[in-house]
Amino acid sequence: MRQVLAVVALLQACAVAGAQELPLEGDAERGRLVFGACRTCHYAEAYMGHNNGPNLHRIFGKVAGKQAGFRYYSQVFRDAEFVWTPQLMYAWLEDPMRMFPNSSMMSLGVPDPQARADLIVYLMQASVRE
Ligand code: HEC
Repeated sequence: MRQVLAVVALLQACAVAGAQELPLEGDAERGRLVFGACRTCHYAEAYMGHNNGPNLHRIFGKVAGKQAGFRYYSQVFRDAEFVWTPQLMYAWLEDPMRMFPNSSMMSLGVPDPQARADLIVYLMQASVRE
């Protein structure tokens, strides 16, 4: 857990320093298809609300594990104090269980780097739309 916090702190330091870029350029249209696997549990549109997972509309900039009305956060997410950034989500989704082994999110993430960048760009765009 200490290691995880160190990684989170490092990624946040990068975000503060203005290194907002992902390692790869993403494509929102491709990312929309990648998000299909997440839709089993998550919606990206605000009006759809929560599913088995919390709503992901405007998730960037929010503190993890704190969305009102979602009852199934794990203890590790309830206790989390970090803010979601594109870089952090990119790192996490490579292998979600590695970063947060006690999370209640049953997903293998998106191991492919390009697909992951596409997904994140999609989520950034979906978050701008109402
Ligand atoms: C089987 C259901 C399921 C799938 C599939 C799934 N998630 Fe989740 N997700 C969850 C649950 C449950 C949580 C809450 C985790 C916790 O509290 O430990 C969560 C949490 C999250 C969060 C944190 C939200 C917050 O409010 O802090 C993000 C971001 C997220 N998921 C993104 C994704 C993405 C992107 C995908 C697709 C690659 C995905 N998830 C696939 C169930 C799922």
